[in-house]
Amino acid sequence: MKKILKILGIGIAIIVGFVGIFLLYIGLTDIPSYEVKQVDFHAESTPESIERGKKLAMMLCANCHMNTETRKLTGKRMLDAPPEFGEIYSQNITQDKQYGIGEWTDGELVYLLRTGIKKNGQYSPPYMAKLPTMADEDINAIISFLKSDDPMVTASAVPDTPTQPSFLTKLLCRVAFKPFPMPDKTIEMPNPNNAVELGKYLAHNLDCFSCHSADFKTNNYMDPTLSEGYFGGGNKPLDEQGRVMLTQNLTSDKETGIGNWVKEDFINAVKYGLKKGENALRYPMAPYTQLTDEEAGAIYEYLQTIPPIKNNVERSVYN
Ligand code: HEC
Ligand code: HEC
Repeated sequence: MKKILKILGIGIAIIVGFVGIFLLYIGLTDIPSYEVKQVDFHAESTPESIERGKKLAMMLCANCHMNTETRKLTGKRMLDAPPEFGEIYSQNITQDKQYGIGEWTDGELVYLLRTGIKKNGQYSPPYMAKLPTMADEDINAIISFLKSDDPMVTASAVPDTPTQPSFLTKLLCRVAFKPFPMPDKTIEMPNPNNAVELGKYLAHNLDCFSCHSADFKTNNYMDPTLSEGYFGGGNKPLDEQGRVMLTQNLTSDKETGIGNWVKEDFINAVKYGLKKGENALRYPMAPYTQLTDEEAGAIYEYLQTIPPIKNNVERSVYN
């Protein structure tokens, strides 16, 4: 009996030792790196693609990369990143060769935006956006804009502050967060004359679903419709004071969702943050002023077609 206990004890000690070594390894090493596949891509830049790219970047990149002091995409401290992820800084993505993305090829940019793998091979955790399902034409537009002479992106020599990922972030990057696959086929634009199809595309690629479903942890970025509580709200993004801002149910449920809203109410909420008889919508629900009424209306049309979810979410209230 004593012998068995002794063997068991040694066994446990060995396991604890291995776990300890593994944790020490995670703590001492960086976020993992992956092979950077060479992507043969050269953005086709036209005045239209730059304009489209700017519109998308204002809605998808500026909230994190815009620095209000430089008024350019020179990066900043991310006050709304969950503190347990570490101290997170978005980077300078102007064309500066030393601090920005002046030395990145178009192929390297596509590869990062699709998969989450940076030029140096390091994986960029979920605090940096990814666009795994966006149409090729729109990706082309974003890169055209990043390489354009728009004052938001022209070279600005503002040094980056490196992100300090926490132990938890590094651990999750080993066991849970993985790069997305690089698409192996062209992803087409939605048909602009089909409101439901256009609305679905925007609801997915403007990231509405990722905040408005149940939880970031159970979102499905490759097929957003498979996310838990798809558009049923209740997710917990943070505001810039680090407080939880519950997201609302956008399904067509009449009691707890937006089933009783007319299209105009929806457009006013999305584009201007206005709600009838209630306080304006707050950060991180930034007004999408760049959307046309047709585009915001198309999102409404799409949301009316998805399964309603009964989930009553009260708005977060702080004094
Ligand atoms: C939720 C916040 C957030 C959004 C939205 C976001 N980024 Fe980022 N981005 C970051 C953070 C944080 C980093 C630093 C990541 C790291 O340290 O790995 C980063 C890094 C980058 C880098 C790498 C820069 C370098 O020098 O390593 C590029 C390029 C980039 N972002 C482009 C974009 C573009 C283009 C968009 C819009 C399509 C975008 N980002 C949207 C937060 C964001
Ligand atoms: C970063 C997270 C985030 C993203 C992305 C986001 N939302 Fe929101 N949204 C919120 C939060 C949080 C609220 C509640 C704000 C409040 O209570 O002041 C909200 C509220 C709303 C409301 C009001 C609903 C109600 O019942 O009051 C609508 C409509 C809405 N969002 C639509 C959208 C659409 C459409 C998109 C994409 C174009 C989108 N949201 C993207 C976080 C987000």
